[in-house]
Amino acid sequence: MRVLVIGSGGREHALTWKIAQSPLLSKLFIAPGNGGTGTIAENVALDITDHKAIIDFCRLMAVDFVVVGPDAQVVAGLGDDIRAAGIACFCPSKAAGQLEGSKSFTKALCDEMDIPTAAYARFDNEAAALAYLYTQGAPIVVKADGLAAGKGVTVAMSVEEAEEAIIDCFAGAFGASGASVVIEEFMEGEEVSLFVLCDGTDILPLTTAQDHKRAFDGDQGPNTGGMGAYSPAPVMTQEIYEQTLERIIWPTVRGLARRGTPYQGVLYAGLMLTSDGPKLVEYNARFGDPETQVLMMRMLSDLLPLLHATATGTLKDHQVAWKDQFALTVIMATQGYPGQVVNGSEIRGAEGLDNDHLQVFHAGTRRDGKRLLGSGGRVLCITALGQTVSEAQKRAYAGVEQIDWPEGFCRRDIGWREIARTGS
Ligand code: AMP
Ligand code: GLY
Repeated sequence: MRVLVIGSGGREHALTWKIAQSPLLSKLFIAPGNGGTGTIAENVALDITDHKAIIDFCRLMAVDFVVVGPDAQVVAGLGDDIRAAGIACFCPSKAAGQLEGSKSFTKALCDEMDIPTAAYARFDNEAAALAYLYTQGAPIVVKADGLAAGKGVTVAMSVEEAEEAIIDCFAGAFGASGASVVIEEFMEGEEVSLFVLCDGTDILPLTTAQDHKRAFDGDQGPNTGGMGAYSPAPVMTQEIYEQTLERIIWPTVRGLARRGTPYQGVLYAGLMLTSDGPKLVEYNARFGDPETQVLMMRMLSDLLPLLHATATGTLKDHQVAWKDQFALTVIMATQGYPGQVVNGSEIRGAEGLDNDHLQVFHAGTRRDGKRLLGSGGRVLCITALGQTVSEAQKRAYAGVEQIDWPEGFCRRDIGWREIARTGS
């Protein structure tokens, strides 16, 4: 099979790394890729917002299957356009991708299918939103309705903080994403993510992971795309897992199929484990970043037939197997992330570290001759396997120690929650 991966982050490097190991593969391209992907696939300098350019490339290069990584391309309907051109594509339709693109779409589906989630109300003017806030009080959650690069959510511990968030949203802080606002009940509990492949009718649950969204140790500092992750997340017991499938995942898949917009792709459920059972925080219509790095590190099965079966409605006959180990990834980011960063600083010592227990996935790098340069906020994902979370953590940080990059930083406590819980 000739395959094209779309994207340039750590998620796409990890997917590419795993697909590259498939015996079914004959040729692998990635557009645009990064400084790490060029050794396992052919980096192609395509503008991934230009759907026609991608389709033309697929025709020219006889690409059989396209795997789309980023959410922006899902929401832009890249999958629909590629399928309309007669090429198989792992990417939910634009209609089903609204699960990620529109918070009110997801909330309406939850209402329709009785899926447990936070109570909410949606407003398209400030006065009504504020009036509702005063009836509810704090803590409360204010969300811009739409994609706001992870920045549109305020978990407000006080009414004043919530007021400020509402006013900012309507003042255009998140552009069109803030033209309407969803105000949600605050859910208390531990967060966990579950990844499930869906082919429109059938599902194949993958596994769980926990992310670390804040920039600094001790879960302090601004929200980021994710500073580290580990998998599996033992906080999701078998019982909670079964409840999640029955009450959340299946009703979502059936509800979307019934509406005539079946979901085909990976469903990334962000869950809150509350005292009333698992509740949906949000859906993403794509793989997580950096969760994919730990998932791919643990996956024993061949990924390529699973993605292809998801895209072609033939998941029923597939299973997935995992290494009986934990995987943990530490993100090295450029100083200043998630704010403005200066690109182009040289990274030394990141090459040649890979072995059976350790993989350095690139998230934002480029090559300048023999030099490896940082190019973006999140730059490297130092990913390790271990029998325990703490063994995986030790190996990942031993990898970090080998890397000489004064302009970078990382959290030093990835995995803390699980290590605190079990001592290992
Ligand atoms: P979202 O973009 O919807 O995933 O929200 C970002 C983060 O805000 C989530 O990962 C949670 O940590 C937090 N959050 C979102 N909604 C709620 C809620 N209703 N209650 C508590 N925390 C929430
Ligand atoms: N790690 C969070 C995300 O991919 O959205």
